[in-house]
Amino acid sequence: MRAFTRLGSILTCVAFVAAADYPFDLTEISAPDGSISAKFVSLGATLTELWVKDKNGQARDVVLGYDDNSKLLTDPDHPVFNPVVGRYANRIKNGTFSIPITKDAQAAGPGVYQIPTNDHNGEVSNPNGRGIIALNFGPYGWDRRNFTLFSHTPSSATYKFVDDLGEGFPGSVVAYVTHAASNGGVFETSIRAYATEQTPIMLTQHVYWNLDAFQDNVNDILDHHLQLDASRVVHLDGDAIPYGDFINTPGTIFDFKQGRVIGERWNETVDLCGPPCQGFDHEWIYDHNETNRIGTSLWSENSGIRLDISTNQPAVQVYTAYWLNTPRKEVHGGPSLVYGPWAAVAIEQQGYVDAINTPEWGVDQLYGPGKDFTWSTTYKFSIVQ
Ligand SMILES: *[C@@H]1O[C@H](CO)[C@@H](O)[C@H](O)[C@H]1NC(C)=O
Ligand SMILES: *[C@@H]1O[C@H](CO)[C@@H](O)[C@H](O)[C@H]1NC(C)=O
Ligand SMILES: *[C@@H]1O[C@H](CO)[C@@H](O)[C@H](O)[C@H]1NC(C)=O
Ligand SMILES: *[C@@H]1O[C@H](CO)[C@@H](O)[C@H](O)[C@H]1NC(C)=O
Repeated sequence: MRAFTRLGSILTCVAFVAAADYPFDLTEISAPDGSISAKFVSLGATLTELWVKDKNGQARDVVLGYDDNSKLLTDPDHPVFNPVVGRYANRIKNGTFSIPITKDAQAAGPGVYQIPTNDHNGEVSNPNGRGIIALNFGPYGWDRRNFTLFSHTPSSATYKFVDDLGEGFPGSVVAYVTHAASNGGVFETSIRAYATEQTPIMLTQHVYWNLDAFQDNVNDILDHHLQLDASRVVHLDGDAIPYGDFINTPGTIFDFKQGRVIGERWNETVDLCGPPCQGFDHEWIYDHNETNRIGTSLWSENSGIRLDISTNQPAVQVYTAYWLNTPRKEVHGGPSLVYGPWAAVAIEQQGYVDAINTPEWGVDQLYGPGKDFTWSTTYKFSIVQ
């Protein structure tokens, strides 16, 4: 037993030594039945390729990305292709919050924390943001940090990350991220995070989907069908910060409860995600809290690929990727062709946006000793019936 454990740790060491190009070392997993395979790099525990079969049994890579994964760190546009996002995803008003949380934590005072801002003229902190991008200068979200490969089997990979940089957040956080593929076209990511002190944690996985994979001259997701088991969307101000109330979606442009084509009524989405952004960048609150129930479905009649997502998270951010302008991967027709506006839809299972400045919601996003953060999402692929 002891020798076995030692062998295990020697093998782990060998894996690190062999991965000369860390943190861009590629790790591959696949389901035993061959229905799905995926590749990751250590930086941000990022998904770089996800291959599933279309209606003709041909595999397509249904996530956006780069051929040169070092661009995940250096691309100034910072589209955030498919990593784990943290320590606090989405946006924080004025990069400020207090512990315990209060509505008016904005002025400096006892228990008030200030983290770097990088979005909306410095009024917002956003780990996905494009504002401040200089390396080693914040906000330097988890997507651009070095995770290490902790364990690996043919069908799963676990990464470990220690967030002790702080960036104004209290305490350190240790996170384990497991990606797994299983029979029947199932991909799953689960995260467990432990904090040394009380701190807000809101993690997500920021995956850009295009279920056609840019074949047959289809260049955007406007003909994809989207279904959200949600009847409310968070009401946002001009900085994409919540007012604290919700928009009831039935009948509105935000109504995807029954499932419909994303591009339908598209002219009503002009400036909807903040002028000149056309399309969606909003958070829907699920109508259920059941981890095993489908929250989001996305499908394309063109490829015949259908994706059903279930999660332990209460909400989903849907971003129709207006701001993209990035050379495509070769498998998607790059590098001469680019991913442009609406080339993908980013779908992020997460907590309530900026709940740490919205105490009226009664949502507790503080974690620490005795209270671990958990995140799990299952992506199930099938063929459109
Ligand atoms: C933003 O936070 C800083 C530091 O706490 C504070 O001085 C400033 O007044 C805040 N700005 C707004 C607009 O609330
Ligand atoms: C990530 O790892 C690379 C390679 O070891 C190293 O050069 C870089 O400084 C690390 N980055 C951080 C933020 O620790
Ligand atoms: C959108 O286009 C439809 C059909 O062309 C038209 O009837 C409708 O008035 C337009 N709506 C807006 C907000 O422009
Ligand atoms: C989900 O759980 C939260 C927290 O317990 C609760 O406030 C909310 O009403 C629940 N939502 C639904 C749809 O059951």
